[in-house]
Amino acid sequence: MSNDKISSVLLENRVFPPPAEFAARARVNAARMAELRAAAEKDSVGFWADLARRELDWHTPFTVALDDSAAPNYRWFTDGRINVSYNCIDRHLAKRADKVAIRFEGEPGDVATLTYRQLHEETCRLANALKSLGIGKGDRVVIYLPMTPQAVIAMLACARIGAVHSVVFGGFSAQSVKDRVEDAGARLIITADGGHRGGAVVELKKAADEALAGGCPTVEKMIVYKRAGQPVDWKDGRDLWWHELTAKAAPQCEPEWVEAEHPLYLLYTSGSTGKPKGIQHSSAGYLLGAHQTTQWIFDLREDDVFWCTADVGWVTGHTYVCYGPLSNGTTIVMYEGGPMVPDAGRFWKICQDHKVSLFYTAPTAIRALMKMGEEIPARYDLSRLRVLGSVGEPINPEAWIWYYRVIGKEKLPIVDTWWQTETGAAMMSPLPGATTLKPGSCTQPIPGIFADIVDESGTPVTDPDHGGYLVITKPWPSMLRTIWGDNDRYIKTYWAHFNNRYYVAGDSAHRDADGCYWIMGRMDDVLKVAGHRLGTMEIESALVAHPRVAEAAVVGKPHDIKGEAIVAFVILRGHRPVGAEAEALVKELREFVSHTMGPIAKPDDIRFADNLPKTRSGKIMRRLLRSIARGEAITQDVSTLENPGIVAQLAGKA
Ligand code: WTA
Repeated sequence: MSNDKISSVLLENRVFPPPAEFAARARVNAARMAELRAAAEKDSVGFWADLARRELDWHTPFTVALDDSAAPNYRWFTDGRINVSYNCIDRHLAKRADKVAIRFEGEPGDVATLTYRQLHEETCRLANALKSLGIGKGDRVVIYLPMTPQAVIAMLACARIGAVHSVVFGGFSAQSVKDRVEDAGARLIITADGGHRGGAVVELKKAADEALAGGCPTVEKMIVYKRAGQPVDWKDGRDLWWHELTAKAAPQCEPEWVEAEHPLYLLYTSGSTGKPKGIQHSSAGYLLGAHQTTQWIFDLREDDVFWCTADVGWVTGHTYVCYGPLSNGTTIVMYEGGPMVPDAGRFWKICQDHKVSLFYTAPTAIRALMKMGEEIPARYDLSRLRVLGSVGEPINPEAWIWYYRVIGKEKLPIVDTWWQTETGAAMMSPLPGATTLKPGSCTQPIPGIFADIVDESGTPVTDPDHGGYLVITKPWPSMLRTIWGDNDRYIKTYWAHFNNRYYVAGDSAHRDADGCYWIMGRMDDVLKVAGHRLGTMEIESALVAHPRVAEAAVVGKPHDIKGEAIVAFVILRGHRPVGAEAEALVKELREFVSHTMGPIAKPDDIRFADNLPKTRSGKIMRRLLRSIARGEAITQDVSTLENPGIVAQLAGKA
């Protein structure tokens, strides 16, 4: 197959200009992109304000575009009033009432369709049901649902009444639900009896019950959507069936017109230290970012069918399953289950059956499907596809080329979009009708976004061979507003490093001679495992919660499919087991972490040792552990170690 081609691509440093026919019809071609860039360069605030007026429907127009008086707590469009669900549904009803909003396919193969009119009705019913339970503006609602249309309906229903949703990924455990519910102070949980994933039923209500049994004093009610149909425990007075509640509710609900800055949602994400952070997004600014980037990056057209494979539990699912496409009146596809059920053709079959034209997925999925061979996608009609997207981690050139060649038939543009939970929307990406692609590079900031690479002193790095901190140099509408309940942490994490001058993304990157950005990885201890963002600290805390574990250090090592694998170095209380006893304990600890955090956090590799490599000041030398985990030669200076002898043991040589 393509091995020759791949190496030659790398050798030649091949580039892929936008196909001529594509550029000719594109919303944004190279000339238009240059115009947009120039306008943004001249007046970035005015640039976004114009778009906000033109692209969003306001109840009360704003007069203040950007309030930077409390920077870095920037506020956008402050005196305007808006409703996000109105923008995602109601405003389409005049022209698109019968257009399909959501095409859903369950993992077992069941299919359902919702038009914009039906989406409106269902959202209003749930919004009224929430109101009947006393939920209103500013109340937090945790959504813990499978990837069914109800997840989107629940988000939109919260937005409709000004409640703040916090979606928890269905793959997270009861403990994670509890932590998030408690941090957010949620009054209500919306869950399901179960969801189908990987050929099994994920028992969501059971986990939610467990979370509530262990704490969560603020939660009053639990709404349960019946999806999988298996029996569930029921707590009278607390638990309510979705179908019963909504059957009684009226199908119209006047939107709550909230201030532009009113929080639309919290989404918890991992950082390098401590517990997950509740990233707080606004209503209008966030929606503008979601809306505009979907339009530009995917060259959106009226008849497109957009499928973003991300779960709604991640930011990609918020922005590119729900808010971005729906605010544009697009038809979206939602798929409940895993990519390998019943076989590795599932994604391609869905593209074929639902006539997907815009396909957006993660490198980990591409690598997994690539391994299964190109004869599988060849069985399906993928001729409707127009644009392919990638998100979540750097895409390696080999996977890029496979995606381009096997799925895109060497014709379709690939948009490699760099962004973060915190940025709300894609920040750097090719625009498919305008940008020359380079496999492995997210190319350049989109119009209106200003990025740079700086060294430790904050000075821009101009040498294309050198990397540095990736920073965003101007505020942008969809930026996070704060960390829920901890504004100091917001400032410390994202701004303090360069005295509030730049937003510090936490990634390192370099910029080549053409001005294209290449993301090199995280500066902190955040892992990307199968595209999921996990903090090493969180996994370490999960490990030390086990009675036998005294101390743990977690690092990542490269993994063919998942991008990174989790390696844990564990110091036990009592003796250090070997042989079968060690094996049994490894198994137990892996299950333990999986139970505490969810299966995605299960360590791939656990190694026992008598001690961790520490500096004399007691700091764990993670770089050293990383080299050991990767089986690399140790080049670090170990003479400063408190216990240099430990290195051989950790490396398995003693
Ligand atoms: C990484 C996901 C390279 C990066 C939207 C970032 C990427 C983190 C890309 C955010 C990309 C995301 N190329 N790296 N196209 N997209 N990343 O919050 O390290 O889950 O900081 O948001 O993923 O992960 P998060």
